[in-house]
Amino acid sequence: MKIRHTFLSLCLVLTTEFDSAHASEPAPAAPVTITIATARSTLELYTGADGRLYQRYYGATRAHLSAPKAKPAREGEFHPPAGNGFILEPALQATHADGNTSTELRYASHETTAVDANIAVTRIKLQDPEYPFAVTLCFRAYRAEDVIEQWVEIRHDEPKAVRLDRFASAAPVFQADSYWLTQLQGDFMREAELQEECLAPGIKVLDSKLGVRAHQMRPPAFLLSLAGPAREESGEVIGGSLGWAGSFQFAFEVDHRRQLRALCGINPFGSAYQLDPARTFRTPPMFWAWSDAGKGGLSRNFHRWARQYGMRDGAKPRPVLLNNWEATYFKFDEAKIVSLFDGAKELGADLFLLDDGWFGNKHPRDDDHRGLGDWQVNTKKLPHGLSYLADEAKKRSIGFGIWIEPEMVNPLSELFEQHPDWVIRQPKRELQFHRDQLILDLTRPEVQAFARRVIDDTLAPNPGISYVKWDCNRYVMQPGSSYLPADRQTHLLIDYQWALYDVMRHMAEKYPKVMAMLCSGGAGRADFSSMQFFHSFWPSDNTDPMQRIYIQWGFGHFFPPGAVIAHITDKGHRPIKFTCDVALTGALGVDRDVSRWTPAERATVAATIALYHNRIRDLVQQGDQYRLESPYEGKRAALDYVSPDRARAVLFVYQLGETAATLGPVKPRGLDPAQRYRVREINLPAKAKSRLALHDQVVSGASLMSEGVQPPLRHAVESLVVEFVAER
Ligand code: GLA
Repeated sequence: MKIRHTFLSLCLVLTTEFDSAHASEPAPAAPVTITIATARSTLELYTGADGRLYQRYYGATRAHLSAPKAKPAREGEFHPPAGNGFILEPALQATHADGNTSTELRYASHETTAVDANIAVTRIKLQDPEYPFAVTLCFRAYRAEDVIEQWVEIRHDEPKAVRLDRFASAAPVFQADSYWLTQLQGDFMREAELQEECLAPGIKVLDSKLGVRAHQMRPPAFLLSLAGPAREESGEVIGGSLGWAGSFQFAFEVDHRRQLRALCGINPFGSAYQLDPARTFRTPPMFWAWSDAGKGGLSRNFHRWARQYGMRDGAKPRPVLLNNWEATYFKFDEAKIVSLFDGAKELGADLFLLDDGWFGNKHPRDDDHRGLGDWQVNTKKLPHGLSYLADEAKKRSIGFGIWIEPEMVNPLSELFEQHPDWVIRQPKRELQFHRDQLILDLTRPEVQAFARRVIDDTLAPNPGISYVKWDCNRYVMQPGSSYLPADRQTHLLIDYQWALYDVMRHMAEKYPKVMAMLCSGGAGRADFSSMQFFHSFWPSDNTDPMQRIYIQWGFGHFFPPGAVIAHITDKGHRPIKFTCDVALTGALGVDRDVSRWTPAERATVAATIALYHNRIRDLVQQGDQYRLESPYEGKRAALDYVSPDRARAVLFVYQLGETAATLGPVKPRGLDPAQRYRVREINLPAKAKSRLALHDQVVSGASLMSEGVQPPLRHAVESLVVEFVAER
């Protein structure tokens, strides 16, 4: 397994020696220019005569930039600290050991190191001239993908702890006539709704204060367009995504000069951090992607980057799962589960995933009020244990996976009876529940060891388990820890995340062959740091395909389709073909007791899975995705996926509402204009004949893209899947 970088394991690193090149160092005489470049974008920084670091530019690489100003306005400082002349929202705020609430950051040095032909790391050291306090701005530029990863390391050698009140990962500035911000807002069951607005002067904050399951109302990601609303396939668009599963804050300040600063990082709310001497506080990484080919180009940059660097085993095919959650909920026994394996086999699924409800004996997990925390197999429901189930699955040539939620506990559990002090709660306050559960305090070393044990005790004795779904079903409402000292209570939500990443890494490193799904009651946890340890994530408990079109559309702006799980279920009671055609555009799976489908429905699902395995999976999971018609803009949605060599593509069209006549043609994108493609409608119901005029015709890529194909759809929940294969 390739882990992208070391930040996840080194949030607070003990450093032995402080580099004392600070107070005496004079401001550099000549301005220093620092360029952080990808293939098509550039971030350019420079030092002013005052020794501070300023931002000159971020955008398309240009041959000529105007000369840097010797005395730039303080508003353009790249990583402004509070308290000494900077009058706007600061990137950093510290109270030094002697009580001084101001910080001054002067350029000290920088270095750029090539990691390989695609990646270069730049580190810029800034120092306070009066305190042994340093901030290193770190960048990793990914050339081909036009992605810049940015994080900050703060450390000091003062006699006592320095209190950090703000610690942005990034705070770049932008200059334009107007700023258009797109966010993915929502809630449980309606995740990732796109919303765009023009920013007015003042501060617009997008944040989460939920601590754990922190992304329930929005994932930590946004788009910025600087010249009017973002367009799909043209214009400059910048995307930001914070690699942090906890509370985050994006503060967009349009100031008195109409400049925009985007402050991005851990939410400082209630999180003042006492940084001890000789330790490094490393912020989570902020990922910036840039494109001049609109939102579509930007998403494809994010997707390519994520497959290579931003998620676990990005090139590995994601298996087709059959999950039993919607099929049985908590009501099952061994015979029932084994019977579901037969359904999984009949459909051609790769793996069966046993969801919640398999554990707890004194307090059997027969509903969500009890048993969470007691990770022993329920001997009444599953008398022969997990290995027996894995073996039965293997006999049918399917893999076996399991659900866990290692961070949580029900009060009605043996774990809580034994360790009531292990939960996050406030003293003297009545416990507040959500789904009748509490969060284990991962800052406590015994809890960290317990969470590792849950993983080890589940996976080590059952080597037949090849998949884990890791869930997280509540957020923090009373952020107190009986482990942390009184003056460090505000460390809770930050230290929790570092410990969580450690436990996730433990699972990924110790069980490299076990694939993993990130889940948090839907997408309450969807970030590129967690995805280092996971292959895919569950975007919503809402599996109605009509809603899923929007949810998958939203997440697709940042995450590649192979990361976004899409299950065929019965939610919404939509026609089976429509349901299958929507699920085909992500990491396909099923959640249904197969025996409840009619034979014809079963045949349709089996044909869909076979098609996915044999002809579509590589296109969807590894190809370039083009969003052709937005579900937000009309009564039809369409998207296509093109193989990297442009020899194959697949087009999906969904009719969302009734129309008097068929809407006009859908124009695919991404094809090779010079190639000739055979056009075929696929995933047709058994014995049905295609009504597509171009079915089985050979047409040039140029004319397909300019003339389009005419979908014969007029009624809501009709859909069409078309394959294009280049004729050699
Ligand atoms: C969450 C998940 C579901 C399922 C249940 C089990 O809601 O999102 O998919 O795993 O928990 O309790």
